[in-house]
Amino acid sequence: MTPRIYVPRDSGALALGAEKVAKAIEKELADRGIEAKIVRNGSRGAYFLEPMVEVATENGRVAYGPVKPSEVKSLFDSGFLTGGHHKRWLGAPDKIPFLARQTRLTFARCGVINPLSLDHYKAHGGLKGLQNAVAMAPAEIVKQVTESGLRGRGGAGFPTGIKWKTVLDTTADKKYIVCNADEGDSATFADRMIMEGDPFVLIEGMAIAGVATGATKGFVYIRSEYPHAVAMMQKAVEAARKTGLLGLNVLGSPTAFDMEIRVGAGAYVCGEETSLLNSLEGKRGVVRAKPPLPAIQGLFGKPTVINNVISLASVPVIMDKGAAFYKDFGMGRSRGTIPIQIAGNVRYGGLFEAAFGMTLGEIVDDIGGGTATGRPVKAVQVGGPLGAYFPRSLFDTPFDYEAFAAKDGLIGHAGITVFDDTADMLKQARFAMEFCAIESCGKCTPCRIGSTRGVETIDKIARGIEPEKQIELVTDLCNTMKFGSLCALGGFTPYPVMSAINHFREDFKPAPVAEAAE
Ligand SMILES: Cc1cc2nc3c(=O)[nH]c(=O)nc-3n(C[C@H](O)[C@H](O)[C@H](O)COP(=O)(O)O)c2cc1C
Ligand code: SF4
Repeated sequence: MTPRIYVPRDSGALALGAEKVAKAIEKELADRGIEAKIVRNGSRGAYFLEPMVEVATENGRVAYGPVKPSEVKSLFDSGFLTGGHHKRWLGAPDKIPFLARQTRLTFARCGVINPLSLDHYKAHGGLKGLQNAVAMAPAEIVKQVTESGLRGRGGAGFPTGIKWKTVLDTTADKKYIVCNADEGDSATFADRMIMEGDPFVLIEGMAIAGVATGATKGFVYIRSEYPHAVAMMQKAVEAARKTGLLGLNVLGSPTAFDMEIRVGAGAYVCGEETSLLNSLEGKRGVVRAKPPLPAIQGLFGKPTVINNVISLASVPVIMDKGAAFYKDFGMGRSRGTIPIQIAGNVRYGGLFEAAFGMTLGEIVDDIGGGTATGRPVKAVQVGGPLGAYFPRSLFDTPFDYEAFAAKDGLIGHAGITVFDDTADMLKQARFAMEFCAIESCGKCTPCRIGSTRGVETIDKIARGIEPEKQIELVTDLCNTMKFGSLCALGGFTPYPVMSAINHFREDFKPAPVAEAAE
């Protein structure tokens, strides 16, 4: 049997040196005259172990990581092609604690298969969901998705099935599926990982959405900062066309569905769905007032499903294993699994897919292993730049949409940024206001003007100018932004600001008098 060596080629692994490791392996194979196949897979998401190289042995795969290019020679000397021991030896990848503790439904194949091999995809359960869907009536597919309890993973947590039903029930000559792959939140990389590690699952999910709603055209809007994801998705779409997964007759059915990849231009607000639609139409990325809902008048004025990458990529497993199977995971109204992205100052950073319900403390301390600096965790921001800062006293909050909302927080796209005790929460609050000021689309006053006034007011607190009065002003301003903004950029910026003020008040104390008088 020709040995198979897996070296990830996703952005995360590349950033950590995977290309150099692959080259070193190629050279070593040539020097030793060994014939072997190098498969460039995606990452499994344990980024603290990347570049993680795997070899297929008679007893299954054996992983090594994090591998440095300079260690490749010694790997060969240790007989790694047959799973030999080496200081980087990790054993069977699915037994690595960080991976073994996960419930992988959406990411089941990520890091396992060759992302561009449809044969691999099918051999690992791919296309079963779409095969079931093309044999069903559209309303039945929508019912399955609704009953699964799937909610949008882009941030708002809106039930996916209800959105699809609105599009299905709206009569039009043309309908669209738009996939939101703008992924602008800090600490998030789940969309990128799936597009680079298992692109066919997203294509399958979009095709199911098309068959379910009568949409015949799909667009994936990918942020320009993701060139590898763009290239991978383009190649995967071409491969899908060649094999009849996309085209006039999806999997041989009478239903047509095709798709295109579009690249954004670097505005955070273009992740907001109506702004994204404007950008796709070639217009300025400015938020549209709702109604009309995009499901009724979306892209080019036509009924449009707009869903996040993970929402769409979670549909194939639902259509394969059934709504009840998916719904069985999770808690309360948060059903299924969620890919939690653990980042910032954390020891074990990476993607952790789990059923809803783990506490924040379990995720940060147990799974993440605390801070990378070894200092105490001071705060955790959940849900990207618009998410609240949680102190340790809230670490018993379960990962659940409603539980987070009850604590004035949000899950968003499930990115977690960890901070140690050296973090200055006043600076973080200022950063939230400044971010809003920079990224505001400018359409509404509370966000456009409020965020700039917010920066100025927080600066006054830092300089010790009547801090208590300024805190009152910021609180009032946050209320105006929360209730008066047109979209969640202005509407949610108060979350990080007020959580910093409320939970870390000691960081908002006046500066020494000498500095204050300056
Ligand atoms: C400022 C702003 C940025 C957003 N960025 C993203 C994003 O990058 N990706 C995403 O899927 N949703 C983003 N959203 C949420 C989208 O507006 C929308 O709710 C989502 O695409 C719907 O898909 P879902 O129901 O599958 O989550 C953003 C919202 C706002 C207000
Ligand atoms: S809240 Fe900000 S980003 Fe949203 S519409 Fe208003 S100005 Fe634009």
